[in-house]
Amino acid sequence: MPTPEPQPCAAAPAIRKALLAWFARHRRPLPWRTEVSAYRTVVSELMCQQTQVATVLPYFERWVARWPGFDALARAREAEVLAAWAGLGYYTRARNLLALAQQVAGRPEPRTAADWQAFKGVGPYTAAAIASIAFGEPVAVVDGNVIRVLARVAGVRERFKDGAAAAKHFAGLAATLVDPRRPGDFNQAMMELGATVCRKAAPACDRCPVARWCDARARGDAAELPRFAPKARRTDEISRGLVRHRGRVLLHRLPRDARRLAGMAELPALAVLGVAGVGEPTLVRRRTIGNVTYEERLHALPVAVADVRRWTRDPALEWVAEAALDTAALTGPHRRWLGEWLSPGGRTARGRRP
Ligand code: ADE
Repeated sequence: MPTPEPQPCAAAPAIRKALLAWFARHRRPLPWRTEVSAYRTVVSELMCQQTQVATVLPYFERWVARWPGFDALARAREAEVLAAWAGLGYYTRARNLLALAQQVAGRPEPRTAADWQAFKGVGPYTAAAIASIAFGEPVAVVDGNVIRVLARVAGVRERFKDGAAAAKHFAGLAATLVDPRRPGDFNQAMMELGATVCRKAAPACDRCPVARWCDARARGDAAELPRFAPKARRTDEISRGLVRHRGRVLLHRLPRDARRLAGMAELPALAVLGVAGVGEPTLVRRRTIGNVTYEERLHALPVAVADVRRWTRDPALEWVAEAALDTAALTGPHRRWLGEWLSPGGRTARGRRP
């Protein structure tokens, strides 16, 4: 994406000053802020792309303890990397991170946003975050938090088709506002403000360092901005089998070329098991991703000898010892459901119920 032209904004210096002063006092001491490197910034930004900071924290700490830099990560096996990512979701990020480490290892680190954007999985937002935070390049980030802050401060009331359309709209204003001397701190301050004060449903305008320049605050409609077109919602039903035999459970290893979750393991769908007409499910779990609610119907299946033979011959299915589930590259929800089924009311497949 070409760099947007800066727009004139007379209040920019005062806004930067107020925002940076607020950030210095209120920033969360996140581990990628207390010790900054290109590697730590890349790992944290990829982890934070679709996952909340609170969820990311323990994963980040474990990750950098195990693989402290690009060189160490480049030597890891993909299965280990996927297992370490298990529970964060959007597993393509883990594979992209490994591929990125393999390309960067042993070479001088790329420095500019344009260089970083050449890597798979690094879009304009992530490239700007890495270049500004780790290398001080004066480029602006525009993520959901930043869009919310800018829409409110500038009083933009138009309805956007989606986040990408809004990001395009605000790229120019963000480029004008970013502090050329402290772009990394400025960008993180904008994200922090959006995450902790300029929140979606309940903006805390009384605690906001830029309230005096905020159009939405003056008009009293901050909670309604930014505006997005409503999305069509739907529910998808999925039936899966819970199969336990001689201390092992049956999992479906998703193919390496699967669009999502490639290389991860899941509870097998009944269609994969070649099973039909199983009656009422043992567990029903719902979860919503974007506009789709998935109703997962989990059936504990009786195990006949003929089935065991058939399933064992199927290369897409694998028996995993219950004791080895902790280290299997199982997706988060499936790990949880297995835990609920194997020891109801007690332990999850990874340990004690939180
Ligand atoms: N979300 C994405 N990047 C972040 C960062 N650097 N700090 C806090 N939240 C973030």
